[in-house]
Amino acid sequence: MASYDVIIIGAGPGGYVCAIRCAQLGLKTAVVEGRETLGGTCLNVGCIPSKALLHASHQLHEAEHNFEKMGLKGKAPSVDWKQMLAYKDDVIGQNTKGIEFLFKKNKVDWIKGWASIPGAGKVKVGDETHEAKHIVIASGSEPSKLPGVEVDEKVVVTSTGALELPKIPKTMVVIGGGVIGLELGSVYARLGTQVTVVEFLDAITPGMDGEVQKNFQRILKKQGLDFIMGAAVQSVETLKTKAKVNYKLRKDDSDHQLDADVVLVATGRKPYTDGLGLADLGVEMTKRGQIATDDHWQTSVKGIYAIGDAIEGPMLAHKAEDEGMAVAEVLAGKHGHVNYGVIPGVIYTHPEVANVGATEESLKEQGRAYKVGKFSFMGNGRAKAVFAGEGFVKILADKETDRILGAHIIGPAAGDLIHEVCVAMEFGASAEDLALTCHAHPTFSEAVREAALACGDGAIHA
Ligand code: NAI
Repeated sequence: MASYDVIIIGAGPGGYVCAIRCAQLGLKTAVVEGRETLGGTCLNVGCIPSKALLHASHQLHEAEHNFEKMGLKGKAPSVDWKQMLAYKDDVIGQNTKGIEFLFKKNKVDWIKGWASIPGAGKVKVGDETHEAKHIVIASGSEPSKLPGVEVDEKVVVTSTGALELPKIPKTMVVIGGGVIGLELGSVYARLGTQVTVVEFLDAITPGMDGEVQKNFQRILKKQGLDFIMGAAVQSVETLKTKAKVNYKLRKDDSDHQLDADVVLVATGRKPYTDGLGLADLGVEMTKRGQIATDDHWQTSVKGIYAIGDAIEGPMLAHKAEDEGMAVAEVLAGKHGHVNYGVIPGVIYTHPEVANVGATEESLKEQGRAYKVGKFSFMGNGRAKAVFAGEGFVKILADKETDRILGAHIIGPAAGDLIHEVCVAMEFGASAEDLALTCHAHPTFSEAVREAALACGDGAIHA
Protein backbone atom coordinates (compact mmCIF):
# COMPACT_ATOMS: atom_id res chain seq x y z
CA MET A 1 0.00 0.00 0.00
CA ALA A 2 1.21 3.44 -0.87
CA SER A 3 -0.06 6.87 -0.03
CA TYR A 4 -0.44 9.64 -2.64
CA ASP A 5 -1.68 13.18 -2.96
CA VAL A 6 -3.51 12.20 -6.15
CA ILE A 7 -4.45 8.90 -7.76
CA ILE A 8 -5.80 9.18 -11.27
CA ILE A 9 -7.82 6.34 -12.74
CA GLY A 10 -7.12 5.94 -16.44
CA ALA A 11 -4.07 6.87 -18.53
CA GLY A 12 -5.78 8.31 -21.60
CA PRO A 13 -5.16 11.92 -22.71
CA GLY A 14 -7.21 13.22 -19.76
CA GLY A 15 -5.56 11.06 -17.12
CA TYR A 16 -1.93 11.13 -18.24
CA VAL A 17 -1.92 14.88 -18.84
CA CYS A 18 -3.54 15.44 -15.43
CA ALA A 19 -0.87 13.21 -13.83
CA ILE A 20 2.04 15.03 -15.42
CA ARG A 21 0.65 18.44 -14.44
CA CYS A 22 -0.04 17.21 -10.85
CA ALA A 23 3.57 16.02 -10.59
CA GLN A 24 4.87 19.29 -12.05
CA LEU A 25 2.90 21.12 -9.37
CA GLY A 26 4.60 19.09 -6.64
CA LEU A 27 1.89 16.53 -5.88
CA LYS A 28 2.81 12.88 -5.27
CA THR A 29 0.93 11.23 -8.11
CA ALA A 30 0.02 7.77 -9.38
CA VAL A 31 -2.05 6.59 -12.31
CA VAL A 32 -3.94 3.30 -12.38
CA GLU A 33 -4.14 1.78 -15.84
CA GLY A 34 -5.19 -1.78 -16.69
CA ARG A 35 -4.20 -1.76 -20.35
CA GLU A 36 -0.77 -3.14 -21.28
CA THR A 37 0.26 0.29 -22.56
CA LEU A 38 -0.45 3.87 -21.52
CA GLY A 39 -2.39 6.38 -23.62
CA GLY A 40 -5.96 5.04 -23.38
CA THR A 41 -8.32 4.69 -26.30
CA CYS A 42 -6.84 7.68 -28.14
CA LEU A 43 -3.29 6.37 -28.43
CA ASN A 44 -4.01 2.65 -28.56
CA VAL A 45 -7.20 2.24 -30.60
CA GLY A 46 -8.39 5.70 -31.58
CA CYS A 47 -6.97 9.05 -32.65
CA ILE A 48 -3.38 8.00 -33.24
CA PRO A 49 -3.75 4.68 -35.13
CA SER A 50 -6.57 6.10 -37.27
CA LYS A 51 -4.34 9.04 -38.22
CA ALA A 52 -1.60 6.63 -39.30
CA LEU A 53 -4.03 4.77 -41.58
CA LEU A 54 -5.51 8.04 -42.85
CA HIS A 55 -2.02 9.24 -43.72
CA ALA A 56 -0.99 6.03 -45.48
CA SER A 57 -4.22 5.74 -47.46
CA HIS A 58 -4.03 9.42 -48.42
CA GLN A 59 -0.56 8.90 -49.85
CA LEU A 60 -2.00 6.11 -51.99
CA HIS A 61 -4.83 8.38 -53.12
CA GLU A 62 -2.30 11.05 -54.11
CA ALA A 63 -0.24 8.53 -56.07
CA GLU A 64 -3.33 7.23 -57.87
CA HIS A 65 -4.94 10.58 -58.63
CA ASN A 66 -2.38 13.38 -58.64
CA PHE A 67 1.13 12.08 -59.30
CA GLU A 68 0.75 11.88 -63.06
CA LYS A 69 -0.57 15.45 -63.23
CA MET A 70 2.71 16.60 -61.68
CA GLY A 71 4.81 14.58 -64.11
CA LEU A 72 5.46 11.78 -61.66
CA LYS A 73 4.99 8.76 -63.89
CA GLY A 74 4.90 5.08 -63.09
CA LYS A 75 2.49 2.61 -61.57
CA ALA A 76 0.73 3.63 -58.37
CA PRO A 77 2.00 1.59 -55.40
CA SER A 78 0.18 -1.59 -54.39
CA VAL A 79 -0.92 -2.06 -50.80
CA ASP A 80 0.89 -4.40 -48.43
CA TRP A 81 -1.81 -4.39 -45.75
CA LYS A 82 0.28 -6.28 -43.18
CA GLN A 83 3.03 -3.67 -43.51
CA MET A 84 0.53 -0.82 -43.28
CA LEU A 85 -0.81 -2.28 -40.03
CA ALA A 86 2.75 -2.77 -38.76
CA TYR A 87 3.49 0.90 -39.51
CA LYS A 88 0.35 1.86 -37.59
CA ASP A 89 1.38 -0.35 -34.64
CA ASP A 90 4.85 1.17 -34.66
CA VAL A 91 3.33 4.65 -34.44
CA ILE A 92 1.19 3.49 -31.49
CA GLY A 93 4.26 1.98 -29.80
CA GLN A 94 6.33 5.14 -30.16
CA ASN A 95 3.55 7.22 -28.63
CA THR A 96 2.64 4.92 -25.74
CA LYS A 97 6.30 4.47 -24.83
CA GLY A 98 6.62 8.24 -24.95
CA ILE A 99 4.05 8.53 -22.15
CA GLU A 100 5.92 5.91 -20.12
CA PHE A 101 9.07 8.03 -20.50
CA LEU A 102 7.19 11.16 -19.42
CA PHE A 103 5.85 9.35 -16.34
CA LYS A 104 9.38 8.33 -15.33
CA LYS A 105 10.73 11.80 -16.01
CA ASN A 106 8.02 13.40 -13.85
CA LYS A 107 8.08 10.65 -11.18
CA VAL A 108 4.49 9.57 -11.77
CA ASP A 109 3.88 5.99 -10.57
CA TRP A 110 2.01 3.61 -12.86
CA ILE A 111 -0.10 1.20 -10.80
CA LYS A 112 -0.90 -1.61 -13.25
CA GLY A 113 -4.38 -3.09 -13.06
CA TRP A 114 -8.03 -2.08 -12.90
CA ALA A 115 -9.16 0.23 -10.12
CA SER A 116 -12.19 0.38 -7.91
CA ILE A 117 -12.98 2.99 -5.28
CA PRO A 118 -14.03 1.35 -2.01
CA GLY A 119 -14.45 4.77 -0.37
CA ALA A 120 -13.30 8.39 -0.65
CA GLY A 121 -9.50 8.47 -0.32
CA LYS A 122 -9.08 4.81 -1.27
CA VAL A 123 -8.29 3.10 -4.58
CA LYS A 124 -8.21 -0.69 -4.80
CA VAL A 125 -6.16 -2.41 -7.49
CA GLY A 126 -6.03 -6.20 -7.28
CA ASP A 127 -5.48 -7.07 -3.61
CA GLU A 128 -3.90 -3.77 -2.72
CA THR A 129 -5.62 -0.66 -1.48
CA HIS A 130 -3.81 2.65 -1.98
CA GLU A 131 -4.57 5.88 -0.22
CA ALA A 132 -4.96 9.26 -1.87
CA LYS A 133 -6.04 12.72 -0.73
CA HIS A 134 -7.71 13.20 -4.10
CA ILE A 135 -8.97 10.75 -6.72
CA VAL A 136 -9.50 11.76 -10.35
CA ILE A 137 -11.62 9.49 -12.52
CA ALA A 138 -10.47 9.67 -16.14
CA SER A 139 -11.87 6.33 -17.25
CA GLY A 140 -12.98 7.46 -20.71
CA SER A 141 -15.64 5.93 -22.91
CA GLU A 142 -16.57 2.83 -24.90
CA PRO A 143 -18.60 2.34 -28.11
CA SER A 144 -22.32 2.48 -27.39
CA LYS A 145 -24.37 -0.57 -28.32
CA LEU A 146 -26.98 -0.62 -31.03
CA PRO A 147 -30.02 -2.82 -30.32
CA GLY A 148 -30.13 -5.82 -32.67
CA VAL A 149 -26.46 -5.53 -33.52
CA GLU A 150 -23.93 -7.95 -32.02
CA VAL A 151 -20.32 -6.82 -32.33
CA ASP A 152 -17.80 -9.66 -32.82
CA GLU A 153 -14.88 -7.38 -33.83
CA LYS A 154 -14.38 -9.58 -36.92
CA VAL A 155 -17.31 -9.07 -39.28
CA VAL A 156 -19.27 -6.58 -37.19
CA VAL A 157 -16.69 -4.23 -35.74
CA THR A 158 -16.34 -1.05 -33.72
CA SER A 159 -13.49 1.37 -34.46
CA THR A 160 -11.20 -0.98 -32.50
CA GLY A 161 -11.77 -3.92 -34.86
CA ALA A 162 -11.73 -1.64 -37.92
CA LEU A 163 -8.13 -0.71 -37.09
CA GLU A 164 -6.93 -4.30 -37.38
CA LEU A 165 -9.01 -6.10 -39.97
CA PRO A 166 -7.18 -9.19 -41.27
CA LYS A 167 -7.66 -7.99 -44.85
CA ILE A 168 -9.06 -5.06 -46.76
CA PRO A 169 -12.75 -5.85 -47.26
CA LYS A 170 -14.39 -5.56 -50.69
CA THR A 171 -17.51 -4.04 -49.20
CA MET A 172 -18.16 -2.23 -45.94
CA VAL A 173 -21.32 -0.78 -44.42
CA VAL A 174 -20.69 1.98 -41.93
CA ILE A 175 -23.55 2.53 -39.50
CA GLY A 176 -23.45 6.19 -38.48
CA GLY A 177 -22.22 9.17 -40.49
CA GLY A 178 -20.35 10.73 -37.58
CA VAL A 179 -16.65 11.35 -37.03
CA ILE A 180 -15.55 7.72 -36.63
CA GLY A 181 -17.64 6.43 -39.53
CA LEU A 182 -16.36 9.05 -41.95
CA GLU A 183 -12.69 8.89 -40.93
CA LEU A 184 -12.48 5.10 -41.08
CA GLY A 185 -14.88 4.93 -44.03
CA SER A 186 -12.47 7.25 -45.87
CA VAL A 187 -9.50 5.01 -45.07
CA TYR A 188 -11.14 1.93 -46.57
CA ALA A 189 -12.69 3.78 -49.53
CA ARG A 190 -9.18 4.96 -50.49
CA LEU A 191 -7.89 1.41 -50.15
CA GLY A 192 -10.49 0.19 -52.65
CA THR A 193 -13.38 -0.91 -50.43
CA GLN A 194 -16.90 -0.07 -51.60
CA VAL A 195 -18.11 1.88 -48.56
CA THR A 196 -21.78 2.64 -47.85
CA VAL A 197 -22.63 4.90 -44.93
CA VAL A 198 -26.08 4.39 -43.43
CA GLU A 199 -27.09 7.45 -41.40
CA PHE A 200 -30.19 7.92 -39.26
CA LEU A 201 -30.46 11.68 -39.80
CA ASP A 202 -30.75 13.61 -43.08
CA ALA A 203 -27.28 15.14 -42.70
CA ILE A 204 -23.89 13.72 -41.75
CA THR A 205 -21.84 14.89 -38.73
CA PRO A 206 -24.69 16.06 -36.50
CA GLY A 207 -24.28 19.47 -34.89
CA MET A 208 -21.89 20.78 -37.51
CA ASP A 209 -22.50 23.90 -39.63
CA GLY A 210 -25.12 23.01 -42.27
CA GLU A 211 -23.14 24.40 -45.21
CA VAL A 212 -20.08 22.37 -44.18
CA GLN A 213 -22.21 19.24 -43.79
CA LYS A 214 -23.54 19.56 -47.36
CA ASN A 215 -20.16 20.29 -48.93
CA PHE A 216 -18.43 17.59 -46.92
CA GLN A 217 -20.94 14.96 -48.02
CA ARG A 218 -20.65 16.05 -51.65
CA ILE A 219 -16.85 15.76 -51.53
CA LEU A 220 -16.97 12.34 -49.85
CA LYS A 221 -19.45 11.14 -52.50
CA LYS A 222 -17.02 12.25 -55.19
CA GLN A 223 -14.37 10.18 -53.42
CA GLY A 224 -16.58 7.12 -53.87
CA LEU A 225 -18.44 6.81 -50.56
CA ASP A 226 -22.15 5.99 -50.88
CA PHE A 227 -24.70 7.42 -48.47
CA ILE A 228 -28.09 6.18 -47.41
CA MET A 229 -29.61 8.97 -45.38
CA GLY A 230 -32.62 8.99 -43.07
CA ALA A 231 -32.15 5.29 -42.46
CA ALA A 232 -32.50 3.57 -39.10
CA VAL A 233 -30.56 0.33 -38.80
CA GLN A 234 -32.78 -2.31 -37.23
CA SER A 235 -30.47 -5.30 -37.00
CA VAL A 236 -27.40 -6.96 -38.46
CA GLU A 237 -27.30 -10.68 -39.28
CA THR A 238 -23.86 -12.27 -39.35
CA LEU A 239 -23.27 -15.10 -41.80
CA LYS A 240 -19.76 -16.49 -41.18
CA THR A 241 -17.69 -14.05 -43.25
CA LYS A 242 -20.43 -11.67 -44.33
CA ALA A 243 -23.21 -9.63 -42.80
CA LYS A 244 -26.66 -8.39 -43.74
CA VAL A 245 -27.70 -4.98 -42.52
CA ASN A 246 -31.44 -4.46 -42.14
CA TYR A 247 -32.60 -0.86 -42.14
CA LYS A 248 -35.80 1.17 -42.42
CA LEU A 249 -36.06 4.35 -44.44
CA ARG A 250 -37.64 6.87 -42.11
CA LYS A 251 -39.52 8.76 -44.83
CA ASP A 252 -41.81 5.82 -45.75
CA ASP A 253 -41.00 3.14 -43.16
CA SER A 254 -39.90 0.78 -45.96
CA ASP A 255 -37.55 -2.12 -45.14
CA HIS A 256 -34.24 -2.63 -46.95
CA GLN A 257 -31.14 -4.82 -46.77
CA LEU A 258 -27.48 -4.37 -47.55
CA ASP A 259 -24.79 -7.04 -47.74
CA ALA A 260 -21.25 -6.34 -46.61
CA ASP A 261 -17.99 -8.12 -45.83
CA VAL A 262 -17.56 -5.88 -42.81
CA VAL A 263 -19.98 -3.70 -40.85
CA LEU A 264 -18.53 -0.83 -38.85
CA VAL A 265 -20.77 0.30 -36.00
CA ALA A 266 -20.03 3.97 -35.35
CA THR A 267 -23.13 5.28 -33.64
CA GLY A 268 -21.52 7.10 -30.75
CA ARG A 269 -19.70 6.34 -27.51
CA LYS A 270 -20.77 6.26 -23.87
CA PRO A 271 -18.91 6.85 -20.60
CA TYR A 272 -16.97 3.84 -19.32
CA THR A 273 -17.28 3.57 -15.54
CA ASP A 274 -17.70 -0.20 -15.09
CA GLY A 275 -16.20 -1.72 -11.96
CA LEU A 276 -15.36 1.58 -10.27
CA GLY A 277 -18.09 1.09 -7.67
CA LEU A 278 -19.63 4.52 -8.25
CA ALA A 279 -23.18 3.43 -7.38
CA ASP A 280 -22.09 2.08 -3.96
CA LEU A 281 -20.21 5.31 -3.33
CA GLY A 282 -23.32 7.31 -4.16
CA VAL A 283 -21.64 9.30 -6.94
CA GLU A 284 -24.35 11.25 -8.77
CA MET A 285 -24.76 10.56 -12.48
CA THR A 286 -26.47 12.61 -15.21
CA LYS A 287 -29.53 11.29 -17.08
CA ARG A 288 -27.18 10.31 -19.92
CA GLY A 289 -25.03 8.09 -17.71
CA GLN A 290 -22.17 10.57 -17.30
CA ILE A 291 -20.55 11.34 -13.95
CA ALA A 292 -22.02 14.63 -12.70
CA THR A 293 -19.43 17.21 -11.62
CA ASP A 294 -19.42 20.77 -10.27
CA ASP A 295 -17.48 23.74 -11.71
CA HIS A 296 -14.25 22.32 -10.28
CA TRP A 297 -14.78 18.81 -11.70
CA GLN A 298 -15.61 17.45 -8.24
CA THR A 299 -18.27 14.75 -8.11
CA SER A 300 -21.01 14.61 -5.49
CA VAL A 301 -18.50 12.76 -3.26
CA LYS A 302 -15.91 15.09 -1.76
CA GLY A 303 -12.36 14.35 -2.87
CA ILE A 304 -13.44 12.42 -5.98
CA TYR A 305 -13.12 14.30 -9.26
CA ALA A 306 -13.91 13.28 -12.84
CA ILE A 307 -12.82 14.53 -16.28
CA GLY A 308 -12.95 13.68 -19.99
CA ASP A 309 -15.35 11.37 -21.80
CA ALA A 310 -16.76 10.10 -18.48
CA ILE A 311 -18.37 13.50 -17.79
CA GLU A 312 -20.51 15.91 -19.80
CA GLY A 313 -19.31 17.70 -22.94
CA PRO A 314 -17.80 16.72 -26.26
CA MET A 315 -15.95 13.39 -26.23
CA LEU A 316 -12.66 14.80 -27.46
CA ALA A 317 -9.12 14.00 -26.31
CA HIS A 318 -8.13 17.67 -26.14
CA LYS A 319 -11.17 18.56 -24.03
CA ALA A 320 -10.10 15.81 -21.60
CA GLU A 321 -6.50 17.11 -21.62
CA ASP A 322 -7.63 20.64 -20.79
CA GLU A 323 -9.81 19.35 -17.96
CA GLY A 324 -6.89 17.21 -16.73
CA MET A 325 -4.62 20.24 -16.52
CA ALA A 326 -7.32 22.39 -14.94
CA VAL A 327 -8.19 19.85 -12.25
CA ALA A 328 -4.48 19.46 -11.42
CA GLU A 329 -4.31 23.21 -10.86
CA VAL A 330 -7.37 23.03 -8.60
CA LEU A 331 -5.86 20.18 -6.55
CA ALA A 332 -2.65 22.18 -6.17
CA GLY A 333 -4.65 25.09 -4.77
CA LYS A 334 -4.53 27.17 -7.96
CA HIS A 335 -7.22 28.24 -10.40
CA GLY A 336 -8.09 25.69 -13.06
CA HIS A 337 -10.06 26.90 -16.05
CA VAL A 338 -11.44 25.46 -19.29
CA ASN A 339 -13.08 27.72 -21.87
CA TYR A 340 -15.78 25.39 -23.15
CA GLY A 341 -16.82 27.98 -25.74
CA VAL A 342 -13.54 27.59 -27.61
CA ILE A 343 -13.00 23.86 -28.06
CA PRO A 344 -12.14 23.02 -31.65
CA GLY A 345 -13.46 19.92 -33.39
CA VAL A 346 -11.57 18.31 -36.25
CA ILE A 347 -12.36 15.51 -38.68
CA TYR A 348 -9.16 14.17 -40.21
CA THR A 349 -10.49 13.18 -43.62
CA HIS A 350 -9.16 14.72 -46.79
CA PRO A 351 -10.00 17.53 -46.95
CA GLU A 352 -10.02 18.05 -43.21
CA VAL A 353 -13.02 19.60 -41.51
CA ALA A 354 -12.67 21.83 -38.46
CA ASN A 355 -14.91 24.02 -36.41
CA VAL A 356 -14.95 26.17 -33.29
CA GLY A 357 -17.65 28.16 -31.55
CA ALA A 358 -21.12 28.90 -32.85
CA THR A 359 -22.70 27.58 -36.04
CA GLU A 360 -25.01 29.72 -38.16
CA GLU A 361 -27.85 27.46 -37.09
CA SER A 362 -27.16 28.02 -33.39
CA LEU A 363 -26.89 31.81 -33.88
CA LYS A 364 -30.23 31.86 -35.73
CA GLU A 365 -31.78 29.88 -32.91
CA GLN A 366 -30.49 32.43 -30.38
CA GLY A 367 -31.85 35.24 -32.59
CA ARG A 368 -28.40 36.82 -32.60
CA ALA A 369 -27.44 39.32 -35.33
CA TYR A 370 -24.33 38.04 -37.11
CA LYS A 371 -22.38 38.42 -40.31
CA VAL A 372 -20.65 35.80 -42.41
CA GLY A 373 -17.24 36.08 -44.06
CA LYS A 374 -16.52 33.24 -46.46
CA PHE A 375 -13.57 32.44 -48.68
CA SER A 376 -13.13 29.51 -51.03
CA PHE A 377 -9.81 27.64 -51.19
CA MET A 378 -10.18 28.01 -54.99
CA GLY A 379 -8.88 31.54 -54.49
CA ASN A 380 -5.87 30.35 -52.48
CA GLY A 381 -2.78 29.86 -54.64
CA ARG A 382 -1.09 27.41 -52.31
CA ALA A 383 -4.18 25.19 -52.14
CA LYS A 384 -4.52 25.14 -55.92
CA ALA A 385 -0.85 24.14 -56.26
CA VAL A 386 -1.48 20.98 -54.22
CA PHE A 387 -4.88 19.96 -55.69
CA ALA A 388 -6.66 21.15 -52.54
CA GLY A 389 -8.88 23.92 -53.89
CA GLU A 390 -12.06 22.30 -52.62
CA GLY A 391 -13.66 23.76 -49.51
CA PHE A 392 -13.82 27.11 -47.76
CA VAL A 393 -13.26 29.06 -44.58
CA LYS A 394 -16.33 30.61 -43.00
CA ILE A 395 -16.07 33.04 -40.12
CA LEU A 396 -19.09 34.18 -38.13
CA ALA A 397 -18.84 37.50 -36.34
CA ASP A 398 -21.21 39.63 -34.30
CA LYS A 399 -22.98 42.09 -36.60
CA GLU A 400 -22.49 45.05 -34.27
CA THR A 401 -19.20 44.44 -32.48
CA ASP A 402 -17.42 42.33 -35.16
CA ARG A 403 -16.34 39.92 -32.39
CA ILE A 404 -15.63 36.44 -33.78
CA LEU A 405 -18.31 33.97 -32.71
CA GLY A 406 -17.29 30.87 -34.62
CA ALA A 407 -15.40 29.45 -37.59
CA HIS A 408 -15.97 26.51 -39.91
CA ILE A 409 -13.31 25.26 -42.26
CA ILE A 410 -13.34 22.50 -44.82
CA GLY A 411 -10.10 22.30 -46.74
CA PRO A 412 -6.36 21.62 -46.58
CA ALA A 413 -4.90 21.57 -43.03
CA ALA A 414 -8.23 22.78 -41.63
CA GLY A 415 -7.37 21.08 -38.32
CA ASP A 416 -4.34 23.34 -37.94
CA LEU A 417 -5.83 26.50 -39.41
CA ILE A 418 -8.68 26.49 -36.91
CA HIS A 419 -6.30 27.28 -34.05
CA GLU A 420 -5.59 30.73 -35.39
CA VAL A 421 -9.29 31.45 -34.89
CA CYS A 422 -9.26 29.71 -31.47
CA VAL A 423 -6.49 32.00 -30.25
CA ALA A 424 -8.31 35.03 -31.68
CA MET A 425 -11.49 33.98 -29.86
CA GLU A 426 -9.59 33.43 -26.58
CA PHE A 427 -8.45 37.03 -26.83
CA GLY A 428 -11.94 38.25 -27.72
CA ALA A 429 -10.71 39.40 -31.13
CA SER A 430 -12.80 40.94 -33.86
CA ALA A 431 -12.78 39.68 -37.46
CA GLU A 432 -10.94 42.89 -38.29
CA ASP A 433 -8.14 41.95 -35.86
CA LEU A 434 -7.61 38.75 -37.86
CA ALA A 435 -7.88 40.63 -41.14
CA LEU A 436 -5.25 43.14 -40.07
CA THR A 437 -2.79 40.42 -39.06
CA CYS A 438 -0.11 39.90 -41.70
CA HIS A 439 -0.30 36.35 -43.09
CA ALA A 440 2.62 34.84 -44.98
CA HIS A 441 2.15 34.19 -48.67
CA PRO A 442 1.64 31.60 -50.01
CA THR A 443 -0.01 29.73 -47.13
CA PHE A 444 -3.34 28.01 -46.55
CA SER A 445 -3.86 30.36 -43.62
CA GLU A 446 -4.30 33.28 -46.02
CA ALA A 447 -7.77 31.79 -46.60
CA VAL A 448 -8.56 32.45 -42.93
CA ARG A 449 -7.49 36.06 -43.31
CA GLU A 450 -9.53 36.42 -46.49
CA ALA A 451 -12.62 35.06 -44.70
CA ALA A 452 -11.99 37.63 -41.95
CA LEU A 453 -11.67 40.35 -44.63
CA ALA A 454 -14.97 39.12 -46.08
CA CYS A 455 -16.61 39.97 -42.73
CA GLY A 456 -15.69 43.59 -43.50
CA ASP A 457 -15.12 45.33 -46.84
CA GLY A 458 -14.46 42.13 -48.74
CA ALA A 459 -11.86 39.49 -49.54
CA ILE A 460 -9.17 40.35 -52.06
CA HIS A 461 -8.99 37.14 -54.06
CA ALA A 462 -12.70 36.31 -54.24
P1 NAI B 1 -21.05 10.45 -33.55
O1 NAI B 1 -21.96 10.82 -32.45
O2 NAI B 1 -20.08 11.43 -34.10
O3 NAI B 1 -21.92 9.94 -34.79
C1 NAI B 1 -22.83 8.86 -34.70
C2 NAI B 1 -23.78 8.89 -35.87
O4 NAI B 1 -24.55 7.68 -35.88
C3 NAI B 1 -24.78 10.04 -35.80
O5 NAI B 1 -24.74 10.75 -37.03
C4 NAI B 1 -26.13 9.33 -35.59
O6 NAI B 1 -27.20 10.03 -36.15
C5 NAI B 1 -25.88 7.98 -36.25
N1 NAI B 1 -26.76 6.88 -35.79
C6 NAI B 1 -27.11 6.59 -34.52
N2 NAI B 1 -27.92 5.50 -34.49
C7 NAI B 1 -28.10 5.08 -35.78
C8 NAI B 1 -28.82 4.01 -36.40
N3 NAI B 1 -29.56 3.13 -35.70
N4 NAI B 1 -28.77 3.88 -37.76
C9 NAI B 1 -28.04 4.77 -38.48
N5 NAI B 1 -27.33 5.79 -37.93
C10 NAI B 1 -27.35 5.96 -36.60
O7 NAI B 1 -20.30 9.12 -33.03
P2 NAI B 1 -18.99 8.36 -33.52
O8 NAI B 1 -18.65 8.71 -34.92
O9 NAI B 1 -19.22 6.94 -33.15
O10 NAI B 1 -17.87 8.98 -32.57
C11 NAI B 1 -17.93 8.79 -31.16
C12 NAI B 1 -17.23 9.88 -30.42
O11 NAI B 1 -15.84 9.83 -30.65
C13 NAI B 1 -17.73 11.25 -30.81
O12 NAI B 1 -18.06 11.96 -29.64
C14 NAI B 1 -16.56 11.87 -31.51
O13 NAI B 1 -16.47 13.26 -31.23
C15 NAI B 1 -15.36 11.12 -30.97
N6 NAI B 1 -14.33 11.02 -32.00
C16 NAI B 1 -13.68 12.15 -32.38
C17 NAI B 1 -12.75 12.10 -33.38
C18 NAI B 1 -12.09 13.37 -33.80
O14 NAI B 1 -12.15 14.34 -33.05
N7 NAI B 1 -11.47 13.43 -34.96
C19 NAI B 1 -12.42 10.87 -34.08
C20 NAI B 1 -13.20 9.77 -33.65
C21 NAI B 1 -14.10 9.86 -32.64
